[in-house]
Amino acid sequence: MVNRSRLRQKRLYLDGFAGKYCAVPVILRDLEQQALRKLSARAGAYFAGGAGAERTMAANREAFDRRRIVQRVLRDVSKRDLSVELFGQRLPLPVLLAPIGVLELAHREADLAAARAAAAEGIPFVTSSQASYPLEDIAKANGEGCRWFQLYWSQRDEIAKSFIARAEASGYSGLVVTLDTTELGWRPRDLSRGYLPFMAGRGIANYVSDPVFTAIEVDGQDPEGLRPPLGLGLIRSALELIGAAPGKSLERLLTAPERIRTIRKFIALYSRPHLTWEDLPRLREWTRLPIVLKGIMHPDDARRALELGMNGVIVSNHGGRQVDGGIGALDALPGIVDAIDGKIPVLFDSGIRTGADIIKALALGARAVLLGRPYAYGLALRGEAGVRDVIANLAADLDANLGLSGHRTLSELDRSILEERSLLTGSRLEQ
Ligand code: FNR
Repeated sequence: MVNRSRLRQKRLYLDGFAGKYCAVPVILRDLEQQALRKLSARAGAYFAGGAGAERTMAANREAFDRRRIVQRVLRDVSKRDLSVELFGQRLPLPVLLAPIGVLELAHREADLAAARAAAAEGIPFVTSSQASYPLEDIAKANGEGCRWFQLYWSQRDEIAKSFIARAEASGYSGLVVTLDTTELGWRPRDLSRGYLPFMAGRGIANYVSDPVFTAIEVDGQDPEGLRPPLGLGLIRSALELIGAAPGKSLERLLTAPERIRTIRKFIALYSRPHLTWEDLPRLREWTRLPIVLKGIMHPDDARRALELGMNGVIVSNHGGRQVDGGIGALDALPGIVDAIDGKIPVLFDSGIRTGADIIKALALGARAVLLGRPYAYGLALRGEAGVRDVIANLAADLDANLGLSGHRTLSELDRSILEERSLLTGSRLEQ
């Protein structure tokens, strides 16, 4: 059994001894800061930002900080196993890469680089509906790796059905249905810059490449009659739009009017706020893939997912990008784990930054976690290699913390290893 922590530490210390330093910072704060320095202001705002006053984002971290690990000693932890079973497959780590849209804002190779990195590190990659490359190309990049597809169920069932059929045909082995984004959250960092990547033709590769989406005709006129004001800014945006299109320069220029119609169509069809629980049985009929509902934050919703024969849930508040003033995702986890009562796997995301965070989520009953923003920052800094560095550091950090807190396997983690303390007074809170 490899001691991931020892190996990774040796690598970094030996490199440092020879004057070579990891291009992707090991310190999380530096990782974010360096990535944001490299990205354009609006790309940085898109990755780092959240809904409203970003109170939910803060609550996500606060929920981790309030819980503390109580270490145990002298238990022979020399041989450790970080693997976990998920839908009949053994994963080397309890980690998946979360679906993140518009990764082209971080790196030209976007999802392709991230999917390659996930495969190389042996962890599943979740391709977003809003990916920057068609899901088939991402599947190719992912090769023999494990991949799931994340669905945004837009206005038209036939688009959702087509996406699912394409994912099945391309070797995706799970379907994540994101339920907390039936329309966009109020995101001041993006709003104050007036920047929505989709309007510039970014993050819509799955739609442009979809025969069903392409065949749909919609009235391209804005229902409220709104238009962008004329001026230099509009020319700049038009140039970005042409630049983001695939193909050679002339082809991009000639297809620009068609692309504008496509973007208008995407915007007209994207939101589906009228989605309800009654829609889910239809989804069950469309696919044999395990269906995992993402965005579950209430035990009653978890029970409903069980009743409808769903195969898993992801406790997530979308990294605080949708509802502002919400509870931290980790605070929702124990109640949902109790409601699910071991019948289907409960996964977790929103706020995972370190190995200790993974230990806390698993101790509260998550089977595995999804890593979000940190891998996008690694991608921004060094593409595929950057994502691999972020995963390798996280795995080593998890390994060290697992052993040093007195555990050999993930199945030993339970609520008894955590204490909850008030961040104000430091006093212990009742569990
Ligand atoms: C996301 N997330 C997301 N989720 C999803 O289901 N489909 C998507 O396309 C996206 N896109 C997306 C873009 C960006 C820039 C971010 C930061 C997040 C949510 C993502 O899957 C995950 O829930 C959060 O990233 C978890 O929060 P942290 O840990 O990254 O803060």
